[in-house]
Amino acid sequence: MTIGISDLAFATSHQVLDLQQLADAQGIDVGKYYIGIGQSQMSVPFADEDIVTMGAEAAAQILERTDGIRTLLFATESGIDQSKSAGVFVHGLLGMGEHCRVVELKQACYSATAALQFALGIVARDASEKVLVIASDVARYALDSSGEPTQGAAAVAFLVTADPALVEIEPVTGLHTDDIHDFWRPNYLSTALVDGKYSLAAYLGALEGAWNEYQSRGGADFADIARFCYHQPFTKMAVKAHDRLCKIAGAELDKDQRLAQIAASLEMNRRTGNSYTASIYVGLLSLLERDEADLSGARIGFFSYGSGSVSEFFTGVVRPGYRELLRATRDAATLDNRVVVDHSHYRRLHAQLDEVQGSDYETGAATTGPFRFAGVVDHVRRYERTGA
Ligand code: CAA
Repeated sequence: MTIGISDLAFATSHQVLDLQQLADAQGIDVGKYYIGIGQSQMSVPFADEDIVTMGAEAAAQILERTDGIRTLLFATESGIDQSKSAGVFVHGLLGMGEHCRVVELKQACYSATAALQFALGIVARDASEKVLVIASDVARYALDSSGEPTQGAAAVAFLVTADPALVEIEPVTGLHTDDIHDFWRPNYLSTALVDGKYSLAAYLGALEGAWNEYQSRGGADFADIARFCYHQPFTKMAVKAHDRLCKIAGAELDKDQRLAQIAASLEMNRRTGNSYTASIYVGLLSLLERDEADLSGARIGFFSYGSGSVSEFFTGVVRPGYRELLRATRDAATLDNRVVVDHSHYRRLHAQLDEVQGSDYETGAATTGPFRFAGVVDHVRRYERTGA
């Protein structure tokens, strides 16, 4: 039996900041962002958008095509409640059936891959099962910190089934876990803490560890992998990672050949900014939608990294006919139609989120998307459809 991803949908916040604005405000050359870290924009949530509204918008697209989902796994590291899964809010907003297990998973940017692996196990046990995975995150660092230009927001939803229509996930994986503090967010903070340079080195070290285990367990040779898809805190990180992997694997490829194996996977992330656990699957969608080659039958190598750290290298094979299932025009419009926010308003919004923590409040209607976070009453978060 083959198992893998049958459908994959995207959402992001409906507001965007161009990094030119950030560079201007900081008085630095925008080349540091556009070229140095490989980011042009970052999605900035309106006050009435969060991981639930983005996750619901992505999942609604999957539900337009399928029913009978009995498991919803919600992966995030920017959770909105310490107890209740963000997935249950999405389940309610989308009117999913009551015979459904819903749970939230967390391990920094790795948890969507854990959700994928758990979903594969559920389907392996009963081939009629359909598992909906939602990965949704808002990446937030303190204003004026080194992480600020690597913020962002996005969600993906994907359906895991037998005989998958998009990408079959192969069984061999390589794992790497190390108890470190490269990036983390204590319960009392709404913004992440990061040891920037160390986090880059930790990511690359984990790649080597996961790749080596993948090889020792009989994984595919480097030469038999046509494209690569990496966790992308910023797109230049994927370029650095792929350069490192080529070196470890002894692949003699020039710079253009190396870039050709990942370039299409970077395009959407370059415009959303970091979406933490969603980012590798935003990368997969970007690859499938924007790579000019017909990828039918092509093997993709995935490296999923979650600070702290847990990581995994695994592969998938693209199924024939995958292009007919993509929503490339819609996804391009989602990125193009975001409302441009100016730098001073972005800073006000950033600060506002910290001010309202713990009190009851209403959010004004702002998002142009289909779902909104309406505010908090008696410590209960309220969500509603907007009619858009
Ligand atoms: N034109 C072109 N390039 C320029 C430039 C210019 N005018 N000015 C600077 N650059 C280049 C630099 O040479 C550098 O490139 P290299 O790395 O290839 O040498 C790049 O721009 C960045 O410059 P700096 O290293 O000086 O930037 P910085 O000190 O401000 O920090 C950062 C960069 C560490 C990535 C910081 O943005 C950060 O802390 N980000 C958050 C942490 C992060 O994303 N870590 C990734 C691994 S952890 C992970 O993956 C989990 C997760 O999601 C967070």
